[in-house]
Amino acid sequence: MKLCMIGTGYVGLVSGVCFSDLGNDVICVDKDISKINQLKKGNIPIYEPGLSELVIKNYKNKRLTFSTDINNSIKKSDIIFICVGTPTKKNSSSADLRQIYSVANKISSSINKFKIIITKSTVPVTTGDEIEKIISKKNNKNKFSIVSNPEFLREGEAIRDFIFPDRIVIGSNDKKSNSILKNLYSPLISKGAQYIHTSRRAAELIKYASNSFLATKITFINEMANLCEKIGINIEDISIGMGLDKRIGSRFLRAGPAYGGSCFPKDTKAIISTSDKFKTNLSVIKSVIKSNENRSNLLLNRIYEILNKKIKNKKITFLGVTFKANTDDMRDSSSLKMIPTLSKKGAIIKYFDPTGYKIEFEKNKNVFYEKSVKKSVEGSDLVIIHTEWNDFKSINFKNLVKGKKFIIYDMRNIYSPAKIKAQGFKYFSIGR
Ligand code: UGA
Repeated sequence: MKLCMIGTGYVGLVSGVCFSDLGNDVICVDKDISKINQLKKGNIPIYEPGLSELVIKNYKNKRLTFSTDINNSIKKSDIIFICVGTPTKKNSSSADLRQIYSVANKISSSINKFKIIITKSTVPVTTGDEIEKIISKKNNKNKFSIVSNPEFLREGEAIRDFIFPDRIVIGSNDKKSNSILKNLYSPLISKGAQYIHTSRRAAELIKYASNSFLATKITFINEMANLCEKIGINIEDISIGMGLDKRIGSRFLRAGPAYGGSCFPKDTKAIISTSDKFKTNLSVIKSVIKSNENRSNLLLNRIYEILNKKIKNKKITFLGVTFKANTDDMRDSSSLKMIPTLSKKGAIIKYFDPTGYKIEFEKNKNVFYEKSVKKSVEGSDLVIIHTEWNDFKSINFKNLVKGKKFIIYDMRNIYSPAKIKAQGFKYFSIGR
């Protein structure tokens, strides 16, 4: 099939490349000329394991092309995926849909035969209805179908999540598009993915409900970890004990720093905005947002306690600063709250991240990037393991630095407390 992905961000690029790998002809379109030129050279704008190899392979065999010409790309394609950003509006919790509607207007002028137009971007319920209104101003309704096909990719695992999804959700109000899309996804369905067809509005809500539920699960276990710390119970036992109940499930029950990234913080806020619009109180999600926003403060207080409230001139190392491992994404990472606060209190911060220097800390006083774990921990008073990169999972702290021993605060519970303490280090972790 001939597909056009509009927007070469995370969702558009990963889905486009994977669809081309399944044998479709895919044009990835972006208005950013330099991004498209870089992609043509095989330079990938995001850090995602395995993505670069797939781009190069499919670009060489010409199933994957890149373009800045949106109108022509739409004309050549049967299925158009809208994959542009829907960030949170400034001074509001609702999603900013300007890019979505701008693309809808462009599609509207380029319909030359029947097109399926799909929102893959996360969009609030009823956005599909609005797109339909825009496109039907210039086009007869039998010339197009508007579908919601939310994406459930995780950064760092995106290719695997695309190839082996738990489910594929198609929200459309007509049968024709459903049967075409079932055929498009048949290679994944034959490998075991569940395919469900719902109304368009239901598919839009499934995405927000799923992300909000996962955010709730994480927040729940984070609060349990707070309680465990007070009682002297190991949170890992609680996660295992709860997770083995199939009704609960073990995934997304890892306590850690506040959840971050480009999705959970944004989508939990946006669903509250939708619920306000429809005069419904989603009180659980409201308290999840509050609890998560407060979590960085809780962890900062723990740091003050660990350092006996003396932060000035203390040397603190962060191992990993992104919102999680296997990504270079800094959006809503808890490090963005912790590092500036510690810097303001007079700490000297060194950080190492496998994805390199971060411009986000450029303006913070006494915050330095180091090129290796070893360099970053030299002379440190406190080493904070902030993300769960494999690079940090088997560090021999004892051999790493001779002489002065630092305190370790493992925010991802990577290490066994007993083993680290046996090496002579003071060790703190989350909920144990
Ligand atoms: C999330 C969802 O997991 C995807 O299904 C969804 O497609 C995506 O948002 C999206 O809407 O585009 P992502 O933001 O890439 O994916 O990252 P996650 O792996 O879900 O992690 C989110 C945050 O939760 C991270 O800060 C992570 O460290 C934290 N987390 C996750 C925990 O603290 N504990 C866990 O057990 C799991």
